[in-house]
Amino acid sequence: MHILGTGLTGLIGSRIVELLSPEIIFTDLSRSSGIDITDTIAVENFVKEKNPDLILHLAAMTNVDGAEKEKDLGEESESWKVNVKGTKNVVNAAENIGKGIMYISTDFIFDGESPQDTGYTEEDTPNPINWYGETKYEGELVVKQARTQWTIIRISSPYRATHEKKDFMRAILSRLESGEEIQGVDDRWITPTYIDDIAEGIKILVQNDATGIYHCVGSTFITPYDVAKEIARVFEKEEMSIKPVSASVFLQNRAKRPFKSILNNAKMKKLGLHPSTFREGLEKIKQQL
Ligand SMILES: NC(=O)c1ccc[n+]([C@@H]2O[C@H](COP(=O)([O-])OP(=O)(O)OC[C@H]3O[C@@H](n4cnc5c(N)ncnc54)[C@H](OP(=O)(O)O)[C@@H]3O)[C@@H](O)[C@H]2O)c1
Repeated sequence: MHILGTGLTGLIGSRIVELLSPEIIFTDLSRSSGIDITDTIAVENFVKEKNPDLILHLAAMTNVDGAEKEKDLGEESESWKVNVKGTKNVVNAAENIGKGIMYISTDFIFDGESPQDTGYTEEDTPNPINWYGETKYEGELVVKQARTQWTIIRISSPYRATHEKKDFMRAILSRLESGEEIQGVDDRWITPTYIDDIAEGIKILVQNDATGIYHCVGSTFITPYDVAKEIARVFEKEEMSIKPVSASVFLQNRAKRPFKSILNNAKMKKLGLHPSTFREGLEKIKQQL
């Protein structure tokens, strides 16, 4: 099978390639490989030339606070151009060759105000509260209108053992190692997701020829404060430097985050994925380092 992936050089895409090759052959479409997804003609020609069996669309402007700063630019903002216009280009290119598209989306399309402790399901209604979430949700709407087979895979707080871009887990681990103070928000919840499980989830979805929306996330809902404590315990670091802080203080002058970023992964589990708990993900990473 040949998958053309956009953004395969990124935090998540590069691990998908590492884990699923050579069983799956990947071609990358990113600026590093010479194509900008906002360039309609370039994307169309590249996809036609490579003629993959499936398009996996990860490329995005992923800087949440950076996106918020350009919100007033609306459709002229970089985040809109990449996340919405870029997604239109990728969808059109998939339609032109008559192949399916899998779009990687985010928990940030929800407002986090759901009272349910079991988390948002695929049927719940999105309501983004920051500009990044807004552009990713617009991307979902574009994908849903595709005149070709489509799948939306929502992921959340991804982490892995290594990569040049530091995810939240490795950012906390570095601070624990250097003894710097860590401010852990103790009144908001996230769903940390081990990136190797995302790769496995994608493999399962491809094998099942699955369509529709899936929440491919970890099995633990946890506050960032407890995240830091758990990392300290697993990696045997001193917990003294971890201080609780409220989201309203921590996120001052930054983009709003959903209060309860909790996604329900039952639908993915039914397909056979065993998403790691946060503790299990950390233990696996410890083995990989
Ligand atoms: N990281 C998270 O916390 C998180 C959480 C939930 C969902 N997601 C979603 O997961 C996906 C992957 O995220 P990630 O963290 O792996 O991203 P990342 O590390 O920031 O990488 C972004 C990728 O997109 C490519 N890209 C960016 N702008 C592009 C453009 N104009 N044209 C072509 N390629 C472009 C980049 O390559 P070049 O720079 O070479 O172009 C890179 O390969 C995204 O769709 C994101 O919304 C991420």
